[in-house]
Amino acid sequence: MRVLVTSDYRALSLQAAQIVAEAVRLKPDLVLCLPTGNTPLGMYEDLVRRHRQEGLDFSRVRTFNLDEYIGLGPDHPGSYRAYMRLHFFDHVNVAEQNIHIPNETESDGYEQAILEAGGLDLLIVGIGANGHIAFNEPGSSFASRTRAVALATETIANARRHFDNEADVPLTAVTVGIRTILEARQVLLLASSADKAGVVERAIRGPVSESLPASALQLHPNVLAILDQAAAVSFR
Ligand code: PGA
Repeated sequence: MRVLVTSDYRALSLQAAQIVAEAVRLKPDLVLCLPTGNTPLGMYEDLVRRHRQEGLDFSRVRTFNLDEYIGLGPDHPGSYRAYMRLHFFDHVNVAEQNIHIPNETESDGYEQAILEAGGLDLLIVGIGANGHIAFNEPGSSFASRTRAVALATETIANARRHFDNEADVPLTAVTVGIRTILEARQVLLLASSADKAGVVERAIRGPVSESLPASALQLHPNVLAILDQAAAVSFR
């Protein structure tokens, strides 16, 4: 796995956006697999800026999100669909019919749709403090594909701050699998902040194990980990 250490979160975000922008320019109908969470916010912001200022064209790009909570309506502000609209889709020209978000009833269909699109060209993913990638929690099989999963206790605790009503806090989600992630042609792993330093080191340098889902990325031939200084204490 190649590792790029950037000076700070902004530089990480600009690097990630530049790689996405170049990929879109090279292949205007790129198949992109997209993350949510705090880490990619700066990347989305810079992609929106590039769309507005440089005319970066997403009109033929196909997008597949990594995951979505189960049990929230599509308009629920805590849903990942709402996140994607707020931070990206509402500000760029991705065509509505080219947007894919996994859902509970169609997880086999999701894999089929990826296949019909020609496979994922570029997949961007963060890492959870417990080592999850997408919502593949510790113990997930490396052979897993898109499916419904129970969220880990720490994932639920993290999600809680985004929900006003305790009853809405999701306990389950649909996620692409580890096999789905490993089949993408190129993977960008983004990690920022000191909270992630320990888990990032184990994922990149530690043993490959289903107890640490992100370690599966060591099995992929084309992964670039972009880390800010704080997340990269052991890579300087
Ligand atoms: P974060 O989430 O970007 O909000 O830290 C990463 C993840 O849990 O995959």
